[in-house]
Amino acid sequence: MLREILAPPALRRLRESWQARAEELVAMVVAREGTEFDAFTTLAAAFPLRVFPDAVGLGPEGRENLLPYGNMAFNAFGPRNGLVEADASRMAELSGWVSAQCTRESLGDDGFGARIWVAADRGDLTPEQAPLVVRSLLTAGVDTTVHGLAATLYAFASHPDQWQRLRKRPELARVAFDEAVRWQSPVQTFFRTASSDVTVAGSVIPEGHKILMFLGSANRDPDRWADPDRFDLGRDPSGHVGFGMGIHQCVGQHVARLEAETLLTALARRVEHIELAGEPRRHLINTLRSWAALPVRIRPR
Ligand code: HEM
Repeated sequence: MLREILAPPALRRLRESWQARAEELVAMVVAREGTEFDAFTTLAAAFPLRVFPDAVGLGPEGRENLLPYGNMAFNAFGPRNGLVEADASRMAELSGWVSAQCTRESLGDDGFGARIWVAADRGDLTPEQAPLVVRSLLTAGVDTTVHGLAATLYAFASHPDQWQRLRKRPELARVAFDEAVRWQSPVQTFFRTASSDVTVAGSVIPEGHKILMFLGSANRDPDRWADPDRFDLGRDPSGHVGFGMGIHQCVGQHVARLEAETLLTALARRVEHIELAGEPRRHLINTLRSWAALPVRIRPR
């Protein structure tokens, strides 16, 4: 059900408006910031927040809660450490706000959220499940994309030659995003629980045991990838596990790809050259490879 709502044919209706909003954002950033700016805040964080909440059908109030909520959720997937403690004081408030957004009444009537409720009316899921599925989009769909886009911009700013490749062939935008997701793996790790005893590479994982999968490591496995540490638009990155693998593989990957494709295409039209203008700063989240700042220098057209 959710896979259909977020599948490429269902996203076609969004492409034109997302492309227009990407062009608008890039034009505004270039006009306002000039040639040196923090690409994390102005582009990677700004673009998903412009398009994704509207696509879900969220109301205008309280959207500033989305990133702190995601921060909290992705810390909670990891060990109970200081990062989890630091979020504890806002947990009830942020969770309460997110839950309130997931009811049928709070959601606009043309977004992913409304489509999930229509599926519940058809009996594809129960009315109790519907708000939880909407919530899964708000949990998994914002920070991942923000840091995935930051990874892509970082990849290009640190490899200006690859930017020239993209400018000559903007249709490589999708490949570029997947290659950046492989290279940086914004979601570094994910758990699985063995549903029966299984043998993996000679070790038995007993039923009920948890396994931590290091997606970032698999994505640079030298047995699978030639020169794995290189960000390279010439390679075919399909088969990377940055979106997971199997029946739980990321259901929002086409949404993320469309965001990346529209933003990169808009940038490729306006920006002749991009490079790092200082040391990027990481932000610590227990499970995401994330960013605090990405200083870049550009030459606009
Ligand atoms: C660069 C952006 C993204 C990355 C790197 C990413 C990565 C992942 C990963 C690694 C998983 C776990 C897959 C597994 O267990 O095998 C996952 C699951 C999921 N993702 Fe994403 N994701 C991204 C964007 C999104 C977006 C935009 C949405 C919502 C529209 C989304 C919604 C979900 C949901 C709901 C799940 C759970 C699927 C399930 O358990 O069946 N993700 N994602």
